[in-house]
Amino acid sequence: MLTSIFYLFFLTTIVTCEDFSSITNKTSVIAKLYLNSAEIAYKIAPFQLPVAFSNDEWSQIRPETIRLSGRYIQITSQIIKQEKTSLNGHKVLICQSNCSQTIEVLMIDDKINLVKDLKDGTYFIIGDNERIKYFDIPPTAKYMVDFTFETLRDEYLYLQMINNQLKWQAYYDLLLEDNDEHGTTLIGYADMQNSGVNTIRVDDAELFGGDITIKAPSYFKNGYANGESADINARPEYNAPPPSVSLGQELQGIYVFKISKPFAIEANTNYILPMVRPTIEVERYVSIEKYFQQTNNAGNPERMYRLKSDQFLPKGNAFVRENNRLVGETLWPDQTANNTYAFALGKDYDVTYSETVTLLANESSKPISDNILISQYQKSTKQTYLINLKLENFKGRTIRIEYTQQLTGSLNYIFQAVDNNSNFKQVGSNINANFTLSASESQEHKYRIVYQTQN
Ligand SMILES: *[C@@H]1O[C@H](CO)[C@@H](O)[C@H](O)[C@H]1NC(C)=O
Ligand SMILES: *[C@@H]1O[C@H](CO)[C@@H](O)[C@H](O)[C@H]1NC(C)=O
Ligand SMILES: *[C@@H]1O[C@H](CO)[C@@H](O)[C@H](O)[C@H]1NC(C)=O
Ligand SMILES: *[C@@H]1O[C@H](CO)[C@@H](O)[C@H](O)[C@H]1NC(C)=O
Ligand SMILES: *[C@@H]1O[C@H](CO)[C@@H](O)[C@H](O)[C@H]1NC(C)=O
Ligand SMILES: *[C@@H]1O[C@H](CO)[C@@H](O)[C@H](O)[C@H]1NC(C)=O
Repeated sequence: MLTSIFYLFFLTTIVTCEDFSSITNKTSVIAKLYLNSAEIAYKIAPFQLPVAFSNDEWSQIRPETIRLSGRYIQITSQIIKQEKTSLNGHKVLICQSNCSQTIEVLMIDDKINLVKDLKDGTYFIIGDNERIKYFDIPPTAKYMVDFTFETLRDEYLYLQMINNQLKWQAYYDLLLEDNDEHGTTLIGYADMQNSGVNTIRVDDAELFGGDITIKAPSYFKNGYANGESADINARPEYNAPPPSVSLGQELQGIYVFKISKPFAIEANTNYILPMVRPTIEVERYVSIEKYFQQTNNAGNPERMYRLKSDQFLPKGNAFVRENNRLVGETLWPDQTANNTYAFALGKDYDVTYSETVTLLANESSKPISDNILISQYQKSTKQTYLINLKLENFKGRTIRIEYTQQLTGSLNYIFQAVDNNSNFKQVGSNINANFTLSASESQEHKYRIVYQTQN
């Protein structure tokens, strides 16, 4: 028969405790990284409990996410306690008149700074312009975390919590060439950031992408550690070759990327690993997207890219390079595999459009009733506009233009083609058309819209 030793640990009055910073300095962790924080599980031994957090450390974690876990452990209770050693009963010096004069007093109540003058036995409250000088390092608030638990074996445990010392983000290089022989390349990077003061040794890491909402601790440092640029040379402690990042695995609608082996990130360091290198299709075009105006108007289209990746791409900043030159930057959202995503990088001044808008007819129906009041409300009006769209390509190469005219209050509009091979189509509340213009070509296209109101 299997006999197992049954350990029972009780919470005793706190005498010795381990500082959280000494745990984080010594131990290795299992980390799940999100965009604004990480769930970090610190490996600890039972004797290291309870753990004491300084005020600063406490503000970087979410206390309600603190858990103790292990294979054989059963937690029976958890205690979080704020402790501050009192100054009461200790002697301090009080500086008066810019410390040209000091008096020695006994602290009676450190909450209201009530002291007793040792010379004459009188009591008073320290004034705002008086400074306290301590004979020892003054106490600061600490947060103690302890557990009672039962366990069947002696084992390492994990103290886990959401901590904003560690987080990650993705960014991309989209490399395009004029002649598609060289192909198009998309490289995604996982940029992991340690904004804390200690090195983190990670035994096991997973990066999470997708639409996840996890509240970061209130104290939230953004961007790169200390506002400095990324340290691309951050070296893992364990020698080369560096770890790699797995393909994303779908997990109930979000994606998990696993890092292949242990690594370490030093304090104030960004550690960057190549992550995804999907097969992509990229289509370039220019886009005219505007609202219908009753007056003549003109402008330049946007430089557009339509991207399709065979893998899920977590949201991140993308740097777009054409023939090895940076032509723009965009922040793209999470992208589903095999879905197209279109983004604009800015205007293309080599292409122009102009719309000449002519009012062809402005009709109002005859009053139905002789009653002036009723006729006011039963009148219907109908305005017919001719839109003449002129497109000009000043480039030495062929371009594709996608045109979208948005009609607000679309129920009142009727689209009318002018010729039978018109490119224009009404799709919902938009009029769409695609055009191809060869080098230095200009084209003109017409359509009509009728705007109706019924009072
Ligand atoms: C942990 O490491 C940091 C940075 O090296 C240091 O400032 C801190 O004093 C260390 N804490 C302990 C308890 O050793
Ligand atoms: C204390 O020093 C400041 C500046 O050094 C001075 O303006 C102030 O008058 C001094 N106060 C007293 C009480 O001496
Ligand atoms: C995307 O399409 C490719 C080719 O059709 C297919 O092999 C792949 O499984 C698709 N990926 C997903 C996630 O559906
Ligand atoms: C159409 O005609 C009416 C009067 O009949 C006028 O009030 C309205 O402004 C005209 N609309 C346009 C767009 O010219
Ligand atoms: C469009 O085609 C129809 C029938 O094919 C023809 O009757 C009509 O005249 C054509 N309209 C124009 C503007 O070419
Ligand atoms: C224009 O091209 C886009 C992309 O190929 C397509 O989705 C859209 O349906 C086209 N629009 C028209 C009106 O043909």
